[in-house]
Amino acid sequence: TPSTTTGRLANFVDSRVGASGMVKEFGRKIFPDHWSFMFGEVALYTFVLLLLSGTFLTFFFDPSMTHITYNGSYVPLKGIGMSAAMASTMDISFDVRGGLFMRQVHHWSALLFVASLSVHMLRVFFTGAFRRPRELNWVVGGVLLIMGLAAGFTGYSLPDDLLSGNGLRIIDGVMKALPIVGTYLSMFFFGGEFPGVHVIPRLYSLHIMIVPAVIILLLVIHLFMVVTHKHTQYPGPGRTNDNVVGFPVGPVYAAKAGGFFFIVFGIVAFISGLFQINPIWNYGPYDPSPVSAGTQPDWYIGFVDGALRLMPGYLGNFSFEWIIPFPWGDNTLVLSVLLPALVPAGVLFMVMFAWPWIERWVTKDNREHHLLDRPRNAPFRTAMGAAGVVFYCVMWAAASSDLIATHFHVALNDVTYWLRILFFLGPIFAFWITRRICLSLQRKDREIVLHGREAGIIQMSPEGGFSEKHEEVDVYKRFLLTSYNDNKYIPAQPDAAGHVSGSEKRRAALSKFFFEDRVAPVTPSELEAAHAAHGHHEVEGEKQDS
Ligand code: HEM
Ligand code: HEM
Repeated sequence: TPSTTTGRLANFVDSRVGASGMVKEFGRKIFPDHWSFMFGEVALYTFVLLLLSGTFLTFFFDPSMTHITYNGSYVPLKGIGMSAAMASTMDISFDVRGGLFMRQVHHWSALLFVASLSVHMLRVFFTGAFRRPRELNWVVGGVLLIMGLAAGFTGYSLPDDLLSGNGLRIIDGVMKALPIVGTYLSMFFFGGEFPGVHVIPRLYSLHIMIVPAVIILLLVIHLFMVVTHKHTQYPGPGRTNDNVVGFPVGPVYAAKAGGFFFIVFGIVAFISGLFQINPIWNYGPYDPSPVSAGTQPDWYIGFVDGALRLMPGYLGNFSFEWIIPFPWGDNTLVLSVLLPALVPAGVLFMVMFAWPWIERWVTKDNREHHLLDRPRNAPFRTAMGAAGVVFYCVMWAAASSDLIATHFHVALNDVTYWLRILFFLGPIFAFWITRRICLSLQRKDREIVLHGREAGIIQMSPEGGFSEKHEEVDVYKRFLLTSYNDNKYIPAQPDAAGHVSGSEKRRAALSKFFFEDRVAPVTPSELEAAHAAHGHHEVEGEKQDS
């Protein structure tokens, strides 16, 4: 037994909790190192900041819609009627010591949280980290994304200022646009007619309890799966599908990650101390009549707002009203423009969730993958991702259509028309251009492997000709350029009865479209032939484009 009190205490706890076994097991885990694995970490740390700053805010925030007269330190709003929620947020900003700073920490962390988890998701997508066995973790991640948006939206609505009220009004409209259930849903959510007096307390329960609890639960599952699957790694010599090359969690990663947490904390604190965010005193309390020009939702809600602005009004003005008879009375079904506005977001999320299976269906690649793809080596996936990003960004840009119009002195309607065209053509162009770039990069890689890297040294031959010296690439680079997972066109396969089904034909057509002009990786025999032709150590006398 240890002689010191702390030692005995530690032993006491350990023999009952068994923590040292866990720490040993987890501490020996090897974690590969790459800057792109940082985004998931940033998401995690900003979430911790949200929990800390959010808890501080709960000490002072009053989630009540009781109408009161503001009487705090901010003189311009003195004597103005507002909800207790808004007044308490004003107090947090002007009368609670450190309150404004904490509000800003909370808001800036929220913005950074959703940004980092989005970039993290793009990293996972473009490197193919969602492939077997990580498909389920991709889905858990997708739900985390949606919960992140839900957390942001419910939080944004709490202060009950003009902006947050207008956001809620749009949600009310979206709910009411749902056929048949819409009006009931809205009445249920708001406890009567919008805005009513119940919605802030309800959003509060969602915001500080239910949504964070779901996020924490999913995060535990998410990170547990990262540990059991082991982290993926980028290809390199000695790295295979069956090993992980990197540093152990303890002590290297624990120290790095701990330090990184404080860096993220410091950066958020720095931004929050210097840059104002959501100055509700400029917007004033919520009132259904005014909407100020140039207002924007938080960035991650922008794409939904933009989709709404892009939808042609007549989509909702068919004035087709169906009277649907129910036993308890007739119901009117009216199609509203708000409903089609939700379709693009729905499509985006559906494709996102289904992507691992879509890709597996097209490629017939059902192997486990622990080595990541370089994006160029999966041109079709990279191109689809770029198309998705452009689709999203066009909607996002549309959320600022009024600001684009006023800043560039163009007509608002023209901005909308152009963005509508881009909404359809943008993703197609993005797909096409990205795929061409990937294929070109692959061709360039091939050339570098076979003929060496241009050294920038011009040599004169005894005959008087000029040529550029080419240097052979090193082992690491050669490995990177030659060893990658290669999917190719797989023609339609007949089933057991010798029959080719319609879905198999469609799959084959897609497979052909994706892989027809793929650039095959360099084979060992090609490499040998190139070496024999150039001599082993120095590859000389190659013209640039041979
Ligand atoms: C891996 C955290 C959301 C899919 C990871 C890792 C962390 C993390 C720390 C390991 C390090 C890394 O690869 O970056 C989080 C947090 C999230 C979140 C805190 C948000 C609350 C998402 C989303 C997706 C996703 C939205 C995709 C839709 C994955 C996958 C892995 C992973 C597939 C395994 C990657 C690999 O082994 O290469 N996550 N994540 N995560 N995450 Fe997330
Ligand atoms: C308000 C986001 C988690 C407590 C807000 C606001 C946002 C937000 C954008 C508006 C802030 C403003 O006034 O400018 C998020 C996100 C979260 C999260 C994205 C998690 C992913 C939490 C948690 C708590 C919390 C865990 C409590 C334990 C509060 C409170 C307010 C608030 C009390 C109202 C005070 C205020 O508006 O200043 N949240 N939050 N939040 N949040 Fe959160």
